[in-house]
Amino acid sequence: MPPVYRLREVVKTRTTQSSTFRLVIPELSIQPGERVAMVGQSGCGKSTLLDMLAMVLQPNEAAEFIFNPRDTDPQDVQLLWQKSRRNRLSDLRKRHIGYVLQTGGLLPYLTVRDNIALSRRLQGLSEGESTRRLAEGMGIEGHLDKLPGLLSAGERQRVAIARALAHEPSVVIADEPTASLDPITGRRIMRLFMGLVENLGMTVLVASHDWAQVDRLDLRKLTHHTRQKADNVTESVFTD
Ligand SMILES: Nc1ncnc2c1ncn2[C@@H]1O[C@H](COP(=O)(O)OP(=O)(O)OP(=O)(O)O)[C@@H](O)[C@H]1O
Ligand SMILES: [Mg+2]
Repeated sequence: MPPVYRLREVVKTRTTQSSTFRLVIPELSIQPGERVAMVGQSGCGKSTLLDMLAMVLQPNEAAEFIFNPRDTDPQDVQLLWQKSRRNRLSDLRKRHIGYVLQTGGLLPYLTVRDNIALSRRLQGLSEGESTRRLAEGMGIEGHLDKLPGLLSAGERQRVAIARALAHEPSVVIADEPTASLDPITGRRIMRLFMGLVENLGMTVLVASHDWAQVDRLDLRKLTHHTRQKADNVTESVFTD
């Protein structure tokens, strides 16, 4: 099967007044249904890499950046960026990708039910039984009519996961989805999440700084190393 993602020589540079951070991806292929982890210390570029894979952040350079989701022709993402085809990128993202942000990012004025159903509504899909099923899968069915502000951090994070899965994307990207939780709750939610995505046959990309958790869940870890190039230039490399 062709890979869902195929990247070669992708570079993203982030510069502040005092320093430059350079993220380099020499080679990355992700197969459909694969479960991949980006593991590394704070600031090593995990979120930057996930944002590029979610097509919300444009690489500075890319010899190849192909996205090939289910039921669609292969997409040359770098070309779409270069041609400023933002609507096309946004359509691809909405249809094929579910993104669980590091901080949840629920809309505070919508109920849990409406937060979960939002990604389907945006695509004109009917809600059907999907919201209830997902809420049951994540153990939050008793909270559907509440606003997120009334939930615990762990419950909110479970809603964020359900929301990312509601439109049945073929790719789910999760940025430290349990970082704000105590370790026991974090592990429990991670197991629920992995169980659901496995049942649905989704490709999963997870950022984490928790090596033990990544090992327990049996995810493929990308190779990572950091090197100091000059006084104020740090290069971080993620690769197959
Ligand atoms: N908008 C930005 N502008 C400039 N530099 C940025 C920006 N966002 C992040 N950076 C820098 O890029 C580097 C990588 O950041 P990133 O958020 O990808 O790391 P991370 O591995 O996700 O860290 P964490 O584990 O703390 O979430 C850091 O050095 C950070 O300071
Ligand atoms: Mg991050």
